[in-house]
Amino acid sequence: MTEAHRQRRAQPGEGSTVLCMLADLDATGARTLTLGAGEGRREVLVVREGKTGAVRAYVNACPHKGTPLETFPDRVLDREGRHLVCSTHGARFRVPDGLCVAGPCKGARLVPLAIRCDGGRILLVEPV
Ligand code: FES
Repeated sequence: MTEAHRQRRAQPGEGSTVLCMLADLDATGARTLTLGAGEGRREVLVVREGKTGAVRAYVNACPHKGTPLETFPDRVLDREGRHLVCSTHGARFRVPDGLCVAGPCKGARLVPLAIRCDGGRILLVEPV
């Protein structure tokens, strides 16, 4: 993971935290970023479902070992855009509900985050 990725931070908005812009998902289908700092620091991923275009957000921590899923920024989807893939040991998670369907933590889930889209911005509804 690059230092540039570590420096990418969500931006506070008017009462909500702006995670990213919808257009930020165009290149890879997902965006990985950091919220907060120090003890309150949380890794987050935002992903767009390939079939429906619905946007989901999860705490970016694999249920197996707690590490972020990606090795390279924003690279968490498989080629088909059907599963989020943990680069550490290969666990595969369904995009719509974060359920692990293969790998060492099969049956576990990514922790979902409540978001809403507003004018092309993806906003975090609940605190992490
Ligand atoms: S840390 Fe994700 S599969 Fe092991």
